[in-house]
Amino acid sequence: MIQNVKLNLKYTNIKEKDMMKYAERVTQIHKELHEKSKNPKEFLGWLDLPKEIDKKELDKIKKSAKKIQSDSEILLVIGIGGSYLGARAVIEALTHTFYNYLSHEQRKTPQILYVGNNLSPNYMNDIIDLIGNKDISINVISKSGTTTEPAIAFRVFRELLENKYGLKEAQKRIYVTTDAKKGALKQIAKQEKYTTFVIPDNIGGRYSVLTAVGLLPIATAGINIDKLLEGAKFAQEKYLDRNLKYNDCYKYAVIRNMLYKEAKNIEILVSYEPKLHYMIEWWKQLFGESEGKGGKGIYPTGAEFTTDLHSLGQYIQEGRRNLFETVINIKEPASDMKIKADEDNLDELNYLVNKGLDEVNKKAMEGTIDAHMEGEVPNLVITMDKLNEYNIGHLIYFFELACAVSGKLLGVNPFDQPGVEKYKTNMFKLLGKPGY
Ligand code: PA5
Repeated sequence: MIQNVKLNLKYTNIKEKDMMKYAERVTQIHKELHEKSKNPKEFLGWLDLPKEIDKKELDKIKKSAKKIQSDSEILLVIGIGGSYLGARAVIEALTHTFYNYLSHEQRKTPQILYVGNNLSPNYMNDIIDLIGNKDISINVISKSGTTTEPAIAFRVFRELLENKYGLKEAQKRIYVTTDAKKGALKQIAKQEKYTTFVIPDNIGGRYSVLTAVGLLPIATAGINIDKLLEGAKFAQEKYLDRNLKYNDCYKYAVIRNMLYKEAKNIEILVSYEPKLHYMIEWWKQLFGESEGKGGKGIYPTGAEFTTDLHSLGQYIQEGRRNLFETVINIKEPASDMKIKADEDNLDELNYLVNKGLDEVNKKAMEGTIDAHMEGEVPNLVITMDKLNEYNIGHLIYFFELACAVSGKLLGVNPFDQPGVEKYKTNMFKLLGKPGY
């Protein structure tokens, strides 16, 4: 069966001949990325990752996931930004909408909880309450190994585990994903002999979901990581075509930049499937941190329709005309339900009898795209046939590559994030951290 992610441009006013003016620049960027990806000093390890993934590391991930599934009711994932969002995005896209609320018998795999992605004491205390007496394991993820939010959370939950299980058993329940050599977390892991996974030097946080950063929690949730990687591998091959005309990923990067030049400086990633909420969050971080610098960049934001048509819909239809939308359209839902007849028809819904709810959702999508286009909001549509591991792997690679190319077209370095340091410096000064 052919499974793919297709970009549909028919809802934009972009003309093919104008788009093709970028062809030469895109080919140059393509060559530059692929030539430099061999250099371990460049942050381009993600480019060849799906095909070159370390099989031993993959087996170790699967083995650890099995162990966690067998001895834990909860996996606590500690991490922030690129060390958190990818795992959550994939898990929420591919598991039951109410995964964590199901009974263990229904779920068969541990609950996945996330901590260390904020500094709220309420959040932390509430997670402790939720854990109660349940058996847990921890996967602490930090490339630098020094990020404040996950470091504080790890201090709290490491102590909790040591008190609950004793030092030795706690050591067997803590999994560390960090740099191969550097950072405080690496030192702790070495000293305590925790099972450790490596975040390669040449892969930045927001491009790391297909490394152990994402794969260990994803595998623990029972998701087939081989299929996820297969989808990414398929995308890696598919987007090797340096010709803009045949490369949807590069088209997406170019069209964003063309729209940006027309003062459309806000992109809304839209989904009609609530399971994609964290996919949108992951995408926001990927593009926001990669492009928003030097006074430039499209502001990436997200919306879930039809929910947000009743909150943001008015603005999108008639507010400032600096928006465009990219819609993720999933052709076939995993399940559907038919609308039944009602004798009284007081709600006047009988015209929908025997239609599937998905058809109503799709008509809402079609109607919204047309309405927004009429309101001068260009719409790109990315269509995938199904929400499954293979297509999500494909989509991840699609967005990573598009982001790198788009950042290069914009004239920024898509692999650094100097602006993130500013709040940290101020916070450290205010907290009296030595050296600040
Ligand atoms: O994408 C990035 O580089 C960042 O969002 C980081 O992932 C985030 O700041 C967390 O950093 P670390 O993994 O070093 O704790």
